[in-house]
Amino acid sequence: MRLKIKSCSFRSLLKILPLTFLLSLLPSCGAGDSPDDSLRLGVALYTQDDTFISALAQDLEQLVQEEESRIGQKITLLISDSRHNQTTQMGQVDRFLARRCDVLCVNLVDRTAAAVLVDKAEAEGVPLIFFNRQPVDEDIQRWSQTYYVGASAQESGTLQGELVLEAWRSAPERWDRSGDGVLQYVMLEGEPGHQDSLLRTEYTIQAITDGGIEVERLARDTANWNRAQASARIALWLEEFGEQIEVILSNNDDMALGAIDALCETGRPLEDWPLIVGIDATAPALEAVAAGQLYGTVHNDGRGQAQAMLSLALALHGGEDPAGAVDLVDGHYVWLPYRTVTQANLSAFRAS
Ligand code: GAL
Repeated sequence: MRLKIKSCSFRSLLKILPLTFLLSLLPSCGAGDSPDDSLRLGVALYTQDDTFISALAQDLEQLVQEEESRIGQKITLLISDSRHNQTTQMGQVDRFLARRCDVLCVNLVDRTAAAVLVDKAEAEGVPLIFFNRQPVDEDIQRWSQTYYVGASAQESGTLQGELVLEAWRSAPERWDRSGDGVLQYVMLEGEPGHQDSLLRTEYTIQAITDGGIEVERLARDTANWNRAQASARIALWLEEFGEQIEVILSNNDDMALGAIDALCETGRPLEDWPLIVGIDATAPALEAVAAGQLYGTVHNDGRGQAQAMLSLALALHGGEDPAGAVDLVDGHYVWLPYRTVTQANLSAFRAS
């Protein structure tokens, strides 16, 4: 699939068309386009059908518009939806290169495919910024012009665990339904093999046990970051374990919202719900925090990541030292911090 979105028209189109439809439009600039020195940025999303990723893409589009006004120069943004298919993504990257993109931003479908992409980009001399789905360091180090923009999966897990500890300690009588001092939980995991799934799962539990709370896992399963899949899992676990479930740990907000959907279906009063926590701080999750359904979440700074990608791309395209544009770690990495969100500090996130 070959896609082009000109930032100047995208926002107005957004008012009348869903992003999914925009991403399926195929207007193209052919090989005869006249080259100029403005930035052409090719961005491949692993799927547009992911709440956090589609919000990040919209933030990027908005930031590009703001930057265009600031510098008085056009920036061409081409966004493709790889639809969970690495082969499709390879083809999209080839087409970005054929269209003379100056910088590529790739949200890998399969992180093990990174080396092939680095070699393609290096052969064309086009800098490559991976984001959100982190390749192994060996692949990042393969070429000096390869970068990763993201946030530490371990940090998000630790912060989620700390949220649970805070809740458990401040109202043990509310959350420890069995009164046995042990935290009985179920875990909703993201895609298998994704570092955010693996490390969030591990470090959330580690933070809770490091805090001195004993845990017992009743069930775990992947729901692939997906609300409907999570809702189906939780509905089954509620039938199987009923009120034994004291805490629902979710690797992201969409799955936590799926858990909330399943609990709403049962008609159980909110004061009898288990503790539920997510990660991302998406707009609907913040509403669920406000409603008291979601105890808390961990803000995954998609806008900050989009800004870092754009700043990095502009610097690389302008032949500037990227370390002057972003906070570069080890010459290749840009890390955005996570922050916890509960009702106590919600207003700062809903306003932003
Ligand atoms: C995570 C995010 C998930 C999902 C995933 C996709 O960082 O928390 O909601 O978007 O990235 O790779």
